[in-house]
Parts: sequence; C-alpha cells; structure tokens
Amino acid sequence: MHIPPFAMERWQSTYEHQVSYNLAESGVHQLTVEELLELPGDGTPLMGEDLLQIGLGYAQGNGAAELREFISAIYPSSSIDNVLVTHGGAEANFLSTWQLLETGDEAIVMLPNYMQTNGLVEGWGATVKPWMLHEENGWQPDSAELEEAVTGKTKLIIITNPNNPTGLTFGASLLESVVAAAERVGAWILADEIYRGAEVDGPETPSFWGRYDRLLVTSGLSKAYGLPGLRIGWVVCPSTEKIEELWSYHDYSSIGSSTLTEALAIHALEPSRRQNILERTKSILRTNLPMLKEWVDRQEGTFQYVEPQAGAIMWVRYNLDVNSSDLAERVRVKEDTLIQPGDHFGFDHYLRLGYGPEHDYLIEGLARVKRVLENY
Ligand SMILES: Cc1ncc(COP(=O)(O)O)c(C=O)c1O
Repeated sequence: MHIPPFAMERWQSTYEHQVSYNLAESGVHQLTVEELLELPGDGTPLMGEDLLQIGLGYAQGNGAAELREFISAIYPSSSIDNVLVTHGGAEANFLSTWQLLETGDEAIVMLPNYMQTNGLVEGWGATVKPWMLHEENGWQPDSAELEEAVTGKTKLIIITNPNNPTGLTFGASLLESVVAAAERVGAWILADEIYRGAEVDGPETPSFWGRYDRLLVTSGLSKAYGLPGLRIGWVVCPSTEKIEELWSYHDYSSIGSSTLTEALAIHALEPSRRQNILERTKSILRTNLPMLKEWVDRQEGTFQYVEPQAGAIMWVRYNLDVNSSDLAERVRVKEDTLIQPGDHFGFDHYLRLGYGPEHDYLIEGLARVKRVLENY
C-alpha cells in the first residue's frame, strides 16, 4: 500500500503546537474539562471527582452503550446497533474507505475537500474521480457532472457537508441528486458531516441520514463541539451488518476508545447539554465571522471569498504573486502564526483562515498575517 502524504494534516501536526497563533484550525476554540463539566444539562452530571474513579481498562470496543444511545438520538429511527464509536472522525473515514474499497474500484470525491479521503482512496488502490465545486457557482457542484462521472465501477461517492475548506453547505436537492446517482449503480455514499451543527445562521445542514440505505455517515466531537482532544468520532449506517463489519476492522485499527474520554463524551452528548455546546459554537462563529470579514475587506482588494455558512473556516482567494505554501511558510517563520495554504487542497492562490479562536487571539493572529501581506 502506498499512501500519499496528507499535506494538510502534516503541516498542522508539525507546527500547531509550536506557533504562538494558530489560524489553521477549522473548529472553534476548545473547551477545557472544567468548562465541559460545568455546562448545564439534564440528568446526573459528571463531576470532577467522578473522573478520578474511572477505570482505565479497555472500553467497550464499539463504544459504550450510553454513548451510542446519545449518538443514535441524533439520527432519527436509528438504534445503538447502527453506531460504531471511533477514534475521531479521522478513524471513521479510515475504516469506511478501508472496508469498502478494493484495487480497481473508483470513488468519486468532491474537490476541494478535506484531503484525508482522497489520500485513503489512493492508498487502498482505488481511483479518485474528482467532482469539482465551482467557485463561479458559489462553490456548489453541478449534479449533471456527477451523473457523467458515475459508472459501473463507482463503488463510493464521498461528500463532505458542510464542506471543508469552503465552509459552504449543500441543500437537500443536491443530496437527493447524489442519492439518485449512487442508486443508479448501487454505489455507497460516505457522508462526512463533522461540521454539521456548526452553522453560523439558519437551520441545521441537511443530513444524508434517512435518504439512502447504502450510506455511511461519519462525524464526531472535534469541530461543531470544540472537543477534538477527546478523539471521539462515529460511523452510523442503516445496515447493522455493515456496522459489525466495520467494527471488525476497528479491532485492527484502534480496538476501542478511552474510558476517560467516553465518559466526557457521554456528558457532552446528553441532549440538552449537546444543544448548549452547539449554541456556544454558533455564538463564537457569529461573533468572529463579522470580524474576519471586516479584516478581509480592509485588505484593499487582496481577497475574494464566498461567505462561509458553517465551520470556523473562510476560504479566500488572493491576488498576490506568491505561491500559497510559500506565503504560509513566510507567515509561520516571520510571524509565528499558522494559516492553511490552498496548495494543501490542490488550489494555489487560496488560503483557509480559521476564525474559531478567542477574540483577542484572532485579532492578533490576523494582524500578524497582515504584516506579511504588506510585503507583497
Ligand atoms: C471534514 C473532516 N473530517 C474529519 C476530520 C477529522 O476529524 P477528527 O479530528 O475528529 O479525527 C476533519 C478534521 O479537520 C475534517 O475537516
């Protein structure tokens, strides 16, 4: 197996803990354990002292029943047997593509996109067929192009909704056209919905859940919940047999989650506390997005963007004569600040700016980026 480098993740994992200002992150700023414990919710809350009593043995491999109960409550008519708890959304995507794809298969992948699944498809010996988002169309894809791309060899169609890096969402009619294309050839759909619930305004992004049977929805606590350090993700699938199969792959990849973080995840996903966490996320987005827009607009025509709808990310095109990786490297070295170059998504002359940090941190991070921009 040859797996291509995952440039975006390499950049972040190498530098995110070294820089003073990290604007490369796509989620809202993290909660501390104390803040999470103090968030109001129903039922018996987890207390600090309870954490001290948690046994550090192996957790239930497919996820604690109570955790799967709370996850299945997000997906109407599902039960705990439709859920597999994974080590972050990353493992959920890893297991799904690993289980579904074989050498010679084709997978249709939206581009630009979080590049994990592109790399994995290649790694499993399958072929990536890109389905492009069109900037001139507000970064929406064209369903006629999907119809053309789907063939008898199409095993899987991968959609990230809300999308990373554009921060845009796809509506129900687009989802229905993806289902129609998949149904025509019996393909599976992998819907990465990890930013769902992190909408700036308006209703929750429509889910693929309930629209199709050959469906894997992946998600987790890292983005909309501000809890990436818990490393809790999940796959939900209408087929309990498929969940069993994925679990047997999970036996090879990570066995199970951690009892400690599962307890915190159960606390976080208690339905009323979950709503409070999502409200916190939206309020960060609603405060910070106008600030970022104002900053971008002040850069005198340097940037163009389509206003993001979800996730703490803005995808901007810049009109400076410098490669995006070179620009991001300069920002890192000169200003001790991390931004995400468009190159990592296969799009030079674009940047992804994270606007999830705390107010003053974001202001200072942007001031540092500006100092570098002024040199061009
Ligand atoms: C679309 C998407 N899916 C999955 C992940 C990975 O999530 P996790 O940190 O839960 O593994 C990310 C992280 O940036 C992402 O953007």
